[in-house]
Amino acid sequence: MIENSRSLKINFASLAGIVPFFLHLVAMMWSRSAFAEKPFDDYPADYSLNLADAPMYTLVGITDWGKSILEVYGITTWVLVIVFAMVAVPCVYTLYRFRATGKETELPKQVKGNHWLELVWTVIPFLLLIIIAIPTWRVIFEQEDMKKKAAISSDVLKIDAIGHQWWWEFKYTQLGVTTANELILPENTPVEFTILSKDVIHSFYIPRFGGKLDAIPGGKNKLVYTTPTLVNKEDPEGDFYQGHCLELCGLSHALMRFGVYVRSQTDFDKFIATHNLPPVVMSESEKRGEELFAICMGCHSIEGTPSADLPVEKIGPNLSNFGNRKYLGAHTRLNTMENLKAWIKNPESIKPGSRMKSLGISDDQIEDVAAYVKYSTTKDLR
Ligand code: CUA
Repeated sequence: MIENSRSLKINFASLAGIVPFFLHLVAMMWSRSAFAEKPFDDYPADYSLNLADAPMYTLVGITDWGKSILEVYGITTWVLVIVFAMVAVPCVYTLYRFRATGKETELPKQVKGNHWLELVWTVIPFLLLIIIAIPTWRVIFEQEDMKKKAAISSDVLKIDAIGHQWWWEFKYTQLGVTTANELILPENTPVEFTILSKDVIHSFYIPRFGGKLDAIPGGKNKLVYTTPTLVNKEDPEGDFYQGHCLELCGLSHALMRFGVYVRSQTDFDKFIATHNLPPVVMSESEKRGEELFAICMGCHSIEGTPSADLPVEKIGPNLSNFGNRKYLGAHTRLNTMENLKAWIKNPESIKPGSRMKSLGISDDQIEDVAAYVKYSTTKDLR
């Protein structure tokens, strides 16, 4: 009997690798419920295009490039499933067949070297790697072809995506528009991203679009997509996809999101045409805010105001169309007056380590600056 219980322990020990996996799962579920203070606002339910279309869903590609990558992913997964089965099934069978039973121990036949077997387990992995390699090469060359075409074509929309700690800057270089954290794209259009960084290594990633690429300080990476077709034709904001920095880049890496909004060509043109229009200052509060904005000018620009003419490199986001942005704080909080005031009062309460510090102005002044930045910069989209 004693022999039996020991043999059981030995067999279960071989499955011990599963335990940390489950502990990890439990920890993840616990941490979701344990932290009352949420790091970001949840997306409204109407953002979901359909069931499998959660903003960060990685398993359904929406661009041709994303679909190509997922094909390779599928092939690789099946190859791995086969390899796993080929190893796990004999392993489990052997554990069972030659377990200690307490009776006379039966040893398996001792084999020392078998040329045929060795040949087989050399050739099979070689073939499996070839099966993975061919579609991988095809997809790599597909992207290289797209880059070559984009380099010589004038129909390609060119956007610099610049990583900062902890937000994304988007420069439409042909169109003279600079925005932040919300990437507005026309549907069915080839786009060439030049991925850059201002400080540390970040990574540009829109899961539904597929592929991701590092933003390297001093380096220059290119990524070319053709944007997907618009689904929600009625919504002037267009279809929403979420992007995220995918390289651990410091304290607020987890809060370095960006929104991707695919719109019709008409709505995209409207975005570009209205983006750099000067703010329209209406209320007394906005007027006071406009004057107070002088303390923000060292870091932020609003086109059509003196802040845009300052001959300094702005380290903060361009706020020309801030009123039209759905989110603030690198797409983590809904762009409400309440959240904006909380941000201006103490940016680090929303984004730990934020380069923007508390301005040390009164609550009334915060109200005025917020009114100016939010309401005066709102542009009519339709
Ligand atoms: Cu930038 Cu992580």
